[in-house]
Amino acid sequence: MIKLLDDSDLDRSLRADVQAGLTAPVKTLPPKWFYDNRGSELFEEITRLPEYYPTRTERAVLAEAAPEIARITDAKTLVELGSGSSEKTRLLLDAMLARGTLGSFVPLDVSATFLSSSVETLIAEYPGLGVTGVVGDFAQHLGHLPDGDDRVVAFLGGTIGNLVPDERAAFLTSLRQALHPGEWLLLGADLVKDPAVLVPAYDDAAGVTAAFNRNVLHVVNRALGGDFDPSLFEHVALWDPQREWIEMRLRSTVAQRVRIAGLDLTVPFAEGEEMRTEISAKFRRAGLASELGAAGFELRHWWTDPRSWFGVTLAQAV
Ligand code: SAH
Ligand code: TRP
Repeated sequence: MIKLLDDSDLDRSLRADVQAGLTAPVKTLPPKWFYDNRGSELFEEITRLPEYYPTRTERAVLAEAAPEIARITDAKTLVELGSGSSEKTRLLLDAMLARGTLGSFVPLDVSATFLSSSVETLIAEYPGLGVTGVVGDFAQHLGHLPDGDDRVVAFLGGTIGNLVPDERAAFLTSLRQALHPGEWLLLGADLVKDPAVLVPAYDDAAGVTAAFNRNVLHVVNRALGGDFDPSLFEHVALWDPQREWIEMRLRSTVAQRVRIAGLDLTVPFAEGEEMRTEISAKFRRAGLASELGAAGFELRHWWTDPRSWFGVTLAQAV
């Protein structure tokens, strides 16, 4: 494993994010802090919920497209950003290995413990493939990806939608800078659809997404000596039709003051006050093509499911 982030870097950036987010007029907590080990496990549980269509839809699209992706790219190295369990990525690994070109797989994730256990599993499953986990932040460390040629960078699961538009543009530009002309980005993006389908995917009946959302409060409690009582915050998921994103919030059910000893900070919440924790933007093909184009990528191939719920794009650095 390569560590581009250690515990003290994480601690420093968590502090800065929590300090800024909880003292702003409209409070926020940034999403990468959802994924401690418990958060990563809850996310895996989300992917199996009946309401959460993105994972199984993307998996079906990849199952069909993987041989073609392997043939078009002739990838020697597959890099995966925000890799999590790399469960769907096995479809790509299998197709690229069958094609005979692939030599190494580089999963990068900010969640160190979860990454190291998923790397161990991959090493056991794919003897002969070089697997190197990288603990890093895809918003910061794209300049440190292992160099090579014929690289494919996969960014799956609709995680691109968790970046706000400015962050998305910066991300795509820095990824483009990290690649040589001709190399590839394989991007999985969730598509705009009926809110009656979208909203339950982020507000499931079993309450797993609610637990995932509240998990960020446990992270702050543990890392920064906070005294958040997560049971006093309600999960909120709503569709913003103008910005075409799902917005996740935590709503304080009572007036309360939360003490964060590690920051020497007391944070007042009004009854009903909401803090934004996550967005999940939904895309259209034309919008993706133009965002990719603005960053120096050309959209070359596009796959989707029969209902056009999830899009997988293969874009080339030009
Ligand atoms: N790719 C997997 C997991 C998606 S969940 C799938 O498609 O199912 C999002 C993943 O991105 C989590 O594993 C989380 O730890 C990781 N992540 C979130 N923000 C990150 C960041 N800034 N840098 C690196 N990884 C990040
Ligand atoms: N990338 C996933 C998505 O946008 C992450 C996710 C799923 C998520 N459910 C969530 C993030 C609930 C926060 C809260 O679909």
